[in-house]
Amino acid sequence: MKQICYKGLKFEPYIENQTIKNRIKELGEQITKDYQGTVPLFICVLNGAFPFAADLIREVGIDAEIMFIRLKSYEGTSSTGNVKEVLGLSESIEGRKVIVVEDIVDTGKTIHELTSDLKKQNPADLKIATLLFKPQALQCDVHPDYVGFEIPSKFIIGFGLDLDGIARNLPDIWALSEEHDQ
Ligand code: IMP
Ligand code: MG
Repeated sequence: MKQICYKGLKFEPYIENQTIKNRIKELGEQITKDYQGTVPLFICVLNGAFPFAADLIREVGIDAEIMFIRLKSYEGTSSTGNVKEVLGLSESIEGRKVIVVEDIVDTGKTIHELTSDLKKQNPADLKIATLLFKPQALQCDVHPDYVGFEIPSKFIIGFGLDLDGIARNLPDIWALSEEHDQ
């Protein structure tokens, strides 16, 4: 079977680029319908969500704005649990219809902490769009509104997702191989 190797770990093909793009198109169409007559503000969570956000906003057929925020909570292949904001928002979100754009919701700690913070700034509305969602890993009371793919608790890379900073540029998504000889 086709495999790639990063830092001594083997990865197998998991979701191919065309499948991802097709799903993002559907999400964009849904957001276009849901936000008709408004100007949503997308908040892209860097670094991982940038390819998803870039594709998603181009599938949205109404006026929209985008801002970026940077957070970090992962080291290696498991969450450190320490969520910290590295780069803040440049403008007020008060009264705005906000859509937070994430690459993946795993334990949910990152998005929970971030959305709790953002709600203090009184947006008119706050929704979550995530390309990937691992419902079995969820440890917080968060409910993503727009989900690309629900997946089991596998470690994945590509399309923005990294292993210690690398592999974000892979066009497809790859999953850590469950073979025992790694
Ligand atoms: P959470 O706080 O546990 O939900 O983790 C969210 C963040 O952890 C995501 O924004 C990713 O940066 C990272 N993450 C979670 N699962 C994976 C994965 O399978 N591969 C790469 N990064 C992941
Ligand atoms: Mg991330």
